[in-house]
Amino acid sequence: MPSQDTLTIRDNRTDKDYEIEIVDGAIRALDLRKVKVAEDDFGLMSYDPAFTNTASCRSEITMIDGERGILRHRGYPIEQLATQSSYLEVAYLLIYGHLPNEKQLAEWEENITLHTMLHENTKKFMEGFHHDAHPMGVLVSTVAALSTFYPDAKDIHNEESRKLQTYRLIAKMPTIAAYAYRHRRGLPYVYPDNGLSYTGNLMSMLFKMQRDKFVANPVLEKALDILFILHADHEQNCSANAMRSIGSSHADPYVATAGAAAALYGPLHGGANEAVLKMLREIGSKKNVPKFIKDVKEGKGRLMGFGHRVYKNYDPRAKIIRDTAEQVFEVTGRNPLIDLAMEVERIALEDDYFVKRKLYPNVDFYSGIIYEAMGFHSRAFTVLFAIPRTSGWIAQWQEMLTEEGQRIARPRQVYLGSEPRNYVPLGKRG
Ligand code: ACO
Repeated sequence: MPSQDTLTIRDNRTDKDYEIEIVDGAIRALDLRKVKVAEDDFGLMSYDPAFTNTASCRSEITMIDGERGILRHRGYPIEQLATQSSYLEVAYLLIYGHLPNEKQLAEWEENITLHTMLHENTKKFMEGFHHDAHPMGVLVSTVAALSTFYPDAKDIHNEESRKLQTYRLIAKMPTIAAYAYRHRRGLPYVYPDNGLSYTGNLMSMLFKMQRDKFVANPVLEKALDILFILHADHEQNCSANAMRSIGSSHADPYVATAGAAAALYGPLHGGANEAVLKMLREIGSKKNVPKFIKDVKEGKGRLMGFGHRVYKNYDPRAKIIRDTAEQVFEVTGRNPLIDLAMEVERIALEDDYFVKRKLYPNVDFYSGIIYEAMGFHSRAFTVLFAIPRTSGWIAQWQEMLTEEGQRIARPRQVYLGSEPRNYVPLGKRG
């Protein structure tokens, strides 16, 4: 009788049985290698191009139960963090694994505040971008360029160095993002104001005009902080996977973060919030929703902001954003797109196509609407995602690096190409 925590595999090609250990609900893909048809056979592999059922790591940072719509960071439910914590505290929690005490939080906030400035040369470098450069393209390139300003960041196995790069990255992302945004608008850059909160300072760098001091509306400042908490981490998504994969080659954290941000830029990932607004504007009014849904079902485009690889239920972050939107609208006035979005949600969730496929609103469905009401241009949306996600990327990177036996990420392939053949000189190819 095989032991209970094992999987028995029968290879019908050879009539042989294999017993494979199950640990924490998973088998090790490498154990499949012993399944062979002959001694010189490479052994069995699993084929999973989009990692739909492959755990690429063991992690203690974030837990998602997609079937039940649950999200927890280090064990704390996202609903409690969103209502009781702050973004910088959540960033600390993600990276260090525990909530800070008062002294730790004060030091953490102070260290991040101290690193908000960019080297003046960064500004010159950014000047080179075309006048209408998308802020995400500028952000990706500028974060990568920080690698050249901080060569000490290559000392990735040094805990103190990692700490310093962590402060710098979390502190400088808002400054880069704001400069990228103002570059596109042709406005002069605004230096960080270290007397302001993390989100208050970002709003100042984005919106300050000819005033001595920019004072953010406290409701909007708080709403942005909540949005940042909701975007801080989401376990092994496309960009976190990019961060881990690049970091696994021991590249420095700036270029790894640039790679993660590039992954986030795509419309199937963090670029979806920008795409949602475009889609809602194309739908135009409630009366056009049924026709739009019909087109989606016929394969003419996707309902952006809907569906998720992991959530097969309502994304808990989308719920919190919908509630936060109401508080924002009390200050800014109602963004009419919210009513259109709610109508799209209502009709989609009554439709068999979406019900059967378990397609619900994800975090991006409502985030663009609230950002727009707060005065952010749609081109800034993904940048507003990248800023808070930086703490999640760093937490994932650090966990990967400090794992025992860490190795470079290097998937296998199923080769289906040509058999060996001889090179034909150009003149003889016919
Ligand atoms: N609209 C219409 N149909 C959809 C949608 C959608 N938004 N999402 C999935 N489907 C359908 C697919 O066509 C497929 O149908 P089929 O089985 O008949 O072929 C089925 O649902 C499963 O879809 P997959 O593409 O296999 O799902 P996957 O897990 O690979 O993709 C993804 C997840 C990329 C998020 C997808 O749902 C999507 O494209 N959504 C729209 C973009 C979006 O909102 N992205 C943001 C995600 S959240 C984030 O990254 C922050």
